[in-house]
Amino acid sequence: MTVKIFRNARIYTPVGDAPSRGLDQGMIHILERGALISSDGIISAVGPEEEVLALRQAGDAEEEVDCGGCCVIPGFVDPHTHMCFAARREEEFSMRLAGAAYLDILKKGGGILSSVRHVHAASEQELFERTRALALSALSFGTTTVEIKSGYGLDTESELKMLSVIRRVGRETPLHVVPTFMGAHAVPEAYRGDVDGYVDLLVNEMLPAVAEQGVALFSDVFCEEGVFSPGQARRLLVESRRRGLGLKVHADEVHDTGGAALAAELGAISAEHLLAASDEGIRALAASGTIAVLLPATAYSLRKPYARARAMIDAGVPVALATDCNPGSCFTESMPFVFGLGVMGMGLSVGEALVATTKNSAHAVGLGAVCGTLEPGKNADLLVLDGDTPAILAYHAGVSPVKRVYKKGERVVCTA
Ligand code: NIG
Ligand code: FE
Repeated sequence: MTVKIFRNARIYTPVGDAPSRGLDQGMIHILERGALISSDGIISAVGPEEEVLALRQAGDAEEEVDCGGCCVIPGFVDPHTHMCFAARREEEFSMRLAGAAYLDILKKGGGILSSVRHVHAASEQELFERTRALALSALSFGTTTVEIKSGYGLDTESELKMLSVIRRVGRETPLHVVPTFMGAHAVPEAYRGDVDGYVDLLVNEMLPAVAEQGVALFSDVFCEEGVFSPGQARRLLVESRRRGLGLKVHADEVHDTGGAALAAELGAISAEHLLAASDEGIRALAASGTIAVLLPATAYSLRKPYARARAMIDAGVPVALATDCNPGSCFTESMPFVFGLGVMGMGLSVGEALVATTKNSAHAVGLGAVCGTLEPGKNADLLVLDGDTPAILAYHAGVSPVKRVYKKGERVVCTA
């Protein structure tokens, strides 16, 4: 057994088994001088340093890690990304800065559809190398678990190619990768004007292949004006559930189409984006316990108002934060940046943002029992920050205070 003791740590962690909501969203357990034992990568003890050191057993191979009195938090869980893509879209970003609207670019065959052309042209190896590079960059910013969606293939073969790449990134990097099938990310050119025909293909061919091969844990759909209607999204989600996939919804990102209410009604694990969610949609999420995965860096990049995180927390919706890392609406893999926007832009407290980027985001990908808090039985996924408290993540703006990253007790990043 490999036993590692992390000591001299100011430990800040959410606690408890269920997603945190309402007043609990900001509840953090603090150990001013704490220690943690990792046994074969799993936390076996955490508490005040003296108590934990007294638990040491002679004979176990032991390594001591002095955290230098720095703040230690759980590794970030990024529960919403599209980081498997073959080319950047910098030109499109400049077009948006010059006034072009995101959905208009898509309507003209650009946006997501331009990423689809690049994924079709790329070899699986090339796609893997690009995705791995972004995932490793995310790791250096403290992300130890990441969800990655397909959705730049939009035909059976290319969606399976993406899911194969996504899973390989999980095997060949230290990150835990959660694969999500998102064949319903956009309507491919070949089905322009025949959205129902494409939903038929999704339901009759793509989804069965994905489910039979067991290559995705969740199914997601872009429910948006001019993309998939709530009726089409419902059909796909019901079929996904029948085939054993968990449900996620890109809901009310640009327009309020009732996506939040749909996610709540179907018992989806999460409703994501929600920039335009209505009061009714928020009430529905609170009643169902569906997690709101909010993406403040997307609002920032689209120059749109942030999702109403405060109203959601006050209504009792569990809130998580994610990067949305993608080549179009939001190109960042930095959870510290997202944390800072959550606090400074959305008005979350530091505690609320910490819960949103660790514990609640772990629940949003079905891993609430595995990671997201520093408690016995969970993975020893932890970050040593160059600061005294998690406030450093918002305070030291535009800079990552993540000094060291440990995945299952192993050091995978060290910058100081
Ligand atoms: O989450 N909304 C749809 N999908 C992504 C953007 C994907 C892209 O532009 O390539 C999003 O914003
Ligand atoms: Fe997205």
